[in-house]
Amino acid sequence: MTLLTVSDLVVEAAGQQIIRGLSLSVNAGERVGLIGESGSGKTMAALALMGLLPEGLSLQGSIELEGVELTGLSDRRYSEIRGDRLAMIFQEPMTALDPLMRVGRQIRDAVRLHRRISRAEASSRMLQLLARVGFPNPAEQARRFPHQLSGGQRQRVLIAIALACDPALILADEPTTALDVTVQAQVLSLLQRLVREERSALLLISHDLAVVSSVCDRILVMYGGTVVESAPTREILTAPRHPYTVALLDTSRGISADGETAAGQLPTIPGAVPAWDQFPCGCVFRGRCPREQDRCREVPRLTEGEHRVACWFPFSSEGGGGA
Ligand SMILES: Nc1ncnc2c1ncn2[C@@H]1O[C@H](COP(=O)(O)OP(=O)(O)O)[C@@H](O)[C@H]1O
Ligand code: SF4
Ligand SMILES: [Mg+2]
Repeated sequence: MTLLTVSDLVVEAAGQQIIRGLSLSVNAGERVGLIGESGSGKTMAALALMGLLPEGLSLQGSIELEGVELTGLSDRRYSEIRGDRLAMIFQEPMTALDPLMRVGRQIRDAVRLHRRISRAEASSRMLQLLARVGFPNPAEQARRFPHQLSGGQRQRVLIAIALACDPALILADEPTTALDVTVQAQVLSLLQRLVREERSALLLISHDLAVVSSVCDRILVMYGGTVVESAPTREILTAPRHPYTVALLDTSRGISADGETAAGQLPTIPGAVPAWDQFPCGCVFRGRCPREQDRCREVPRLTEGEHRVACWFPFSSEGGGGA
């Protein structure tokens, strides 16, 4: 069953598009990854879905969650849906938590915001949530302030806040990027286990293909504020079709643009992600794409089906990224 459908979403600043016709869907209980280099528009897309776009940006298109159109909702109605059916975990937990409030109270307030229950019931739910996210001594943790916790512990608190009202969909924007590698793995496996147990859907946003592919059933590849490829995780890894996806895979496997394995240096995709107002017309990957031809001056549409790609000259569906 489709939970979230985003259609032709456009976010503009001063008449220039940052999100360019973004379309995606997430099914109930599904774990979907959204991947792309820094500057691809992932955070902007997440903020648009949460109804939290920065001042001065305009939004067009449709965001439908459980059959309810979210664009155009009043701030009050949107905030009712946020945290109740839709929750977000941010990259830097320190900015998402109130530094002056004990973490237990922050979780309890999140529980009470959307449920008419007593303070005592909310407190007991808060302690349960702290235990669920892996604190062996919830009552003691509840009394701490955010600065008294480690980065991994703060991220667990944010996960507890996100779970507070059994949301249908959790958006997690680079939830482990700021953490050490070992803590990253623990937080990811906790998130994965909890969304499965809660039967929530997850939209996991990351620049790191390894993170997304370890957790998600399906991957959306984003570039220039639009989805350029969408397929089940295994297909993205074994039979990528869009030149950008192929380049992302090569860099994550340590292969540089000339096909050689780079020794001792991090390979990158040639060229840089343009500033949001500097993308070429036509296909957004023009200028960095080794397969570019004249036709690429027209915008390629995302194809239909299970494996979707927006490119005039994609790699063949036979696999391996071969032509
Ligand atoms: N308030 C804003 N006004 C205009 N452009 C912005 C604003 N915030 C971010 N951007 C631009 O939008 C583009 C996408 O940014 P972002 O969504 O943060 O990318 P990602 O999360 O994929 O790294 C970037 O070029 C960024 O500079
Ligand atoms: S449409 Fe053209 S420029 Fe864009 S990714 Fe495909 S081949 Fe490259
Ligand atoms: Mg981001």
